[in-house]
Amino acid sequence: MRGPARYLQTVDIRAAEADDYPAFAALFPELESGDPTPKLQKWSDEIAPQTVLAVVGQEVLGYLFYQRLHDDIYVRHLVVAPGARRAGAGRALLGWLRAHKGRARRWRLNVKPGNVPAVALYRSVGMEVAHWSLALRLSFEQWSTFPEPARGVVSGLLDPELDAAAERALGLPEGQVAHARASRRVVVGVIDGAEVVGLALFDPGFPGAFPFRARTPAHARALAEGTRPHVREDDLQFVVEGDEALRAASLAAGAVIRMETWHMEGPI
Ligand SMILES: CC(C)(COP(=O)(O)OP(=O)(O)OC[C@H]1O[C@@H](n2cnc3c(N)ncnc32)[C@H](O)[C@@H]1OP(=O)(O)O)[C@@H](O)C(=O)NCCC(=O)NCCS
Repeated sequence: MRGPARYLQTVDIRAAEADDYPAFAALFPELESGDPTPKLQKWSDEIAPQTVLAVVGQEVLGYLFYQRLHDDIYVRHLVVAPGARRAGAGRALLGWLRAHKGRARRWRLNVKPGNVPAVALYRSVGMEVAHWSLALRLSFEQWSTFPEPARGVVSGLLDPELDAAAERALGLPEGQVAHARASRRVVVGVIDGAEVVGLALFDPGFPGAFPFRARTPAHARALAEGTRPHVREDDLQFVVEGDEALRAASLAAGAVIRMETWHMEGPI
């Protein structure tokens, strides 16, 4: 049988291995994220251990890269090869994840609003749009046009003892900061008095900060300044999630929009 229908009911799901890098590297560009394909080292160390493949015999049809947090599973990539789409491989990969959810109660991901097949698939498994996300880029000179943080606001590397408080204060899923630390992210925080009012998980390899959350635009400026010693470039890429004030301030400062996505989530 020709075309995707030949895959019907023959798709197997298996764990990815380091040797699957060529298949991953061929599929990754289908995400159209504008990001360079992760290198073999990153694949082997960080991605492959949390990736499953949809296969028919030796042929890799697609992959799902996910991260287990405390009560949540974050779907990072889901890709099916163009010639194998609409034959159930995407649904099978998500079905595998649901069957292996462990203690997770919710799943979440980011998707481009115009990605009709993906949004339809995620809705069909019970996810809904929770908020929008914008990947933005601002030079540090542009950051200096933001409102100045009040005296007493300090930023810098966050003490791991404050991870849980930061997650609670800034609405992040429990365990996300610990996961980021284990994945070699730089964890930057902003403290105002006794409270955590800003948090960025900066990936020097990407480079970019996601999440990047702050209570006010002034706190966001402090967060950018705290991140700066770890950034080699003159500007910072960061993701704003549903935060109208930070979006408005960033665009007023001349931010370049790199990508717009929806954050979808639902019970797993
Ligand atoms: C999104 C993607 C992973 C879906 O994989 P897939 O294997 O083709 O999806 P499935 O065959 O399992 O489809 C499952 C459901 O998704 C929805 N769907 C899939 N393709 C669709 C399309 N072209 N139009 C509308 N709905 C679609 C349908 O609800 C479908 O169920 P149905 O076939 O019973 O109607 C695939 O299109 C893809 O790799 N796209 C490029 C990469 C990408 O955008 N990934 C998502 C990033 S967030």
